[in-house]
Amino acid sequence: MSGLRPPIRARIRDLETQQILQVSQLALDDPKVIPLWYGESDVPTPDFINRAAAGALAAGNTFYTHKQGIPELRAALAGYTGALYGVETSVERITVTSSGMTGIMMVMQMLVDAGDNVVIVGPVWPNARSAVEIMDGEPRGVALRFGNEGWTLDVEEVMARCDERTRAVFVNSPGNPTGWMMPRAQQQALLAACRARGIWVIADEVYARIVYDRRAAPSFLEAADPDDLLIVINSFSKSWAMTGWRLGWLTHPVAVGNYLANLVEFNTSGTPAFLQHAAVTAVQDGEPLVASMVERCRQGRDVIGRCLAALPRVRYTPPDAAFYAFFAVEGMTGSLDFAKRLVHEAGVGLAPGTAFGPEGEGFLRLCFARAPETLEAAADRLARALR
Ligand SMILES: Cc1ncc(COP(=O)(O)O)c(C=O)c1O
Repeated sequence: MSGLRPPIRARIRDLETQQILQVSQLALDDPKVIPLWYGESDVPTPDFINRAAAGALAAGNTFYTHKQGIPELRAALAGYTGALYGVETSVERITVTSSGMTGIMMVMQMLVDAGDNVVIVGPVWPNARSAVEIMDGEPRGVALRFGNEGWTLDVEEVMARCDERTRAVFVNSPGNPTGWMMPRAQQQALLAACRARGIWVIADEVYARIVYDRRAAPSFLEAADPDDLLIVINSFSKSWAMTGWRLGWLTHPVAVGNYLANLVEFNTSGTPAFLQHAAVTAVQDGEPLVASMVERCRQGRDVIGRCLAALPRVRYTPPDAAFYAFFAVEGMTGSLDFAKRLVHEAGVGLAPGTAFGPEGEGFLRLCFARAPETLEAAADRLARALR
């Protein structure tokens, strides 16, 4: 192959390697570097969930399985949603996916034709934008503003970016990297505006439970009617310490269930049944786990908050949700190069703000879902590097 450009779609050839990977690849296996670049905790999946997977394997759950998920898991998720938000959710509205990311990709496959656009509120985790690009669609950013009250959104600006080729508005709340939570009134306003124009709302709520001042962040599910053009993306990764399992789910109108079942067939042909059985256990017995994850993140937020508050060059508001410190550094030009230098010169791995769109320039993201001792060590190094 050397020297030859393989004949593949230009859109695929042009996909940028995620900037977070560009930084982490510098020192992935270097034990001297404290890695806070990825969005995951350092807590391994607890035994009660692992045992359920092992039991399901031993019981022979090794075959092709239901496209939209095993009935037990769909029922457990419908029950979980109902109990958490007090909204009736039928099993037909749940489709299990092989990760939140796969859910996002399937939704874009379902909605986006070449030339269509999706309006995306950012700065935001970059993969939704890439999923739109893979479909030959146009991702259109609308920027949150960072001011004295933290991050805020202008819903009218979102709607002004929509045109006749807009298929969806993508909102990630609680947000990665900002921790921004969309207020209920804005969710209602956006749903109403999108309903009037036949535009979907794709709500990425994978951080719904990583929230510090209440049990769950406001969900679009609480603001919507069951038939609204709303798809909520969710995941087992963050709240149940299961990033490596690749398990998620969609909540959607009943009317699109068959299309999603088809897309499962042509993408993964179904999420492994033994993993799904373990996920039932996670959902049903996992509330203490979720609470302990939040507590650990709260401690991490405190450690990093103290460190950043003492640095005059840093502008930072501790978030009420998700597990990231997203902070501005005065005088930093080019956050990608800066993050690369921090790896070599300070021994701390952070994500550059531009990984989350041009609106993120001037910022760095640090994941604080880590042991307090690790974060104390990282804080010392950062204090020296950002003085
Ligand atoms: C905002 C957001 N959405 C979706 C995901 C995907 O999660 P997963 O594919 O691990 O389920 C992530 C992971 O970092 C995320 O930050």
